[in-house]
Amino acid sequence: MDKLAIDGGEPVRKNLLPYGHQWIDEADIQAVAEVLRSDWLTTGPKVGEFERAFVDFVGAKEAVAVNNGTAALHTAMYAADIGAGDSARGITKDENIPRAEVIVPPMTFASTANCIVFQGGTPVFADVDPETLLIDPAQVEAKITPRTKAIIAVDYAGQPCDYDALRAIADRHGLTLVADACHALGGSYKGRPVGSLADLNSFSFHPVKHITTGEGGMITTDDPELAQRMRIFRNHGITTDHRQREQQGSWFYEMVDLGYNYRLTDIQCALGISQLRKLSRWVKRRQEIARCYDQAFAEIPTVEPLEVRKDVSHAYHIYMIRLNLAQLRVTRAKVFSALRAEGIGVNVHYIPVHLHPFYRERFGTGPGLCPVAEAVYEGLITLPMFPAMTDADVDDVILAISKVISTYC
Ligand SMILES: Cc1ncc(COP(=O)(O)O)c(C=O)c1O
Repeated sequence: MDKLAIDGGEPVRKNLLPYGHQWIDEADIQAVAEVLRSDWLTTGPKVGEFERAFVDFVGAKEAVAVNNGTAALHTAMYAADIGAGDSARGITKDENIPRAEVIVPPMTFASTANCIVFQGGTPVFADVDPETLLIDPAQVEAKITPRTKAIIAVDYAGQPCDYDALRAIADRHGLTLVADACHALGGSYKGRPVGSLADLNSFSFHPVKHITTGEGGMITTDDPELAQRMRIFRNHGITTDHRQREQQGSWFYEMVDLGYNYRLTDIQCALGISQLRKLSRWVKRRQEIARCYDQAFAEIPTVEPLEVRKDVSHAYHIYMIRLNLAQLRVTRAKVFSALRAEGIGVNVHYIPVHLHPFYRERFGTGPGLCPVAEAVYEGLITLPMFPAMTDADVDDVILAISKVISTYC
C-alpha cells in the first residue's frame, strides 16, 4: 500500500470531499427567482404550499414551517407544554419551582437538549443502544419521574427509533412523544413514514440535510389545535400574520402568548417545494451509497458500521463507522487526520451532549452518566454521504479507509 498523505505520500484525492453537501438545480433556482419577482417574500402563499407538500410526503395531518431545525424543536417543546412548574411559558426565574423533565439521548446535536432548556425544562439523559446508537427504551423507562412530561427520540444518522416501544412507554406514563427527525426525512418504521411516528416530529433543512432551504425547519403533527398554537408561536405569539390582516383589510391583532419570529420566508419555501420533488430519488441514492460502504467494510474487521434494524428504511443523513481501537495502533484522532489528508472530509457526530461544559455546569451532568454513548463516541467517524456523490467519490472513500486502516493495523 502507498505511503499515507499525512506522511508525505500522494493523497487519494486532491480536493476535499465534504461529508455532506446540498444539491441545487436549475428548477430550484427558477422557483426562488419566481418568488423574488412576486409580491410576497415572506408570510405569502408558498408557506402553506410547502406545508401541504410536506404533509403529503410524510403522511401527517399538519405541518408548520419554521426558520431552522432548532426553532422546530423549540416550537415542539412549547406545544408539549414544557416549562417550569405549571407554566408552559418557561420564563420564570424562580429556581424553587419544579421544572418539567424531558428525556433525551446524549448522542445528538446540542439543540435537541437546548430546546428543553429554552422553555425552562430540565433535560434528562437516557443512554443509547450500543449497536444502533438510538435511545434505549429500557433506559427511557428507568429515567421517568413524576416530573417527566415528554420524550424526545432522535433518529440518529437517519435510522428511525423503536417508536412502538417508545409509544407504549409514553402512553403508560401520559407523556408527549417528540421525534427529532432532523436526520431521517424520507425514512420509515414498519412501513410508516418518518414525520407521522410521534406526537410532534421536527425536521431541519440545513444544506447537509436531505433537502435544503438554506436554513429551515418543520414540525408535523396530527393535532390541528397544536398546529394552530405552533403557528401563533412562530409569529411572536400573535393571532394573525401580515398577509391575513392584508386579506381582511384589518390592522387589528392580539398577542396571546410569548412567541418568537421563527417564520420561514416564501423564498425558502419555494426552494423547499422544489427540493421535496427530488427527495425520494435522493434517499434511494443515499441507501445505494450505504450498501457500497457496507459491502466494503464487511472485509475490514477494525471498521464496524452501525447496526440497521430489519423493520426500518434508513434515510442515511450520515454514515457512521466505529473503529475498533483495541486492534488499531493509533487513536481516532490520528485516523481522522490521516483521512482528511487523503482528501476525505470526515467528521464526528457527536460529542455526547451531557459532556458539554454548559450541561456539566448547569445540570451537573458528566462522565459516567451515559456510559454506552461515552464509550462508543471514542471510536466514531462520520464518512461522506450525500446524493450528488459519484461512484468514483464512493470508491475514493473506501480506498482511503483501506489505505489508512491497513497502515495502522
Ligand atoms: C439531530 C439534530 N437536531 C437538531 C438540529 C438542528 O437543526 P438546525 O441546524 O436546522 O437548527 C440538527 C442539525 O444539525 C440535528 O442534526
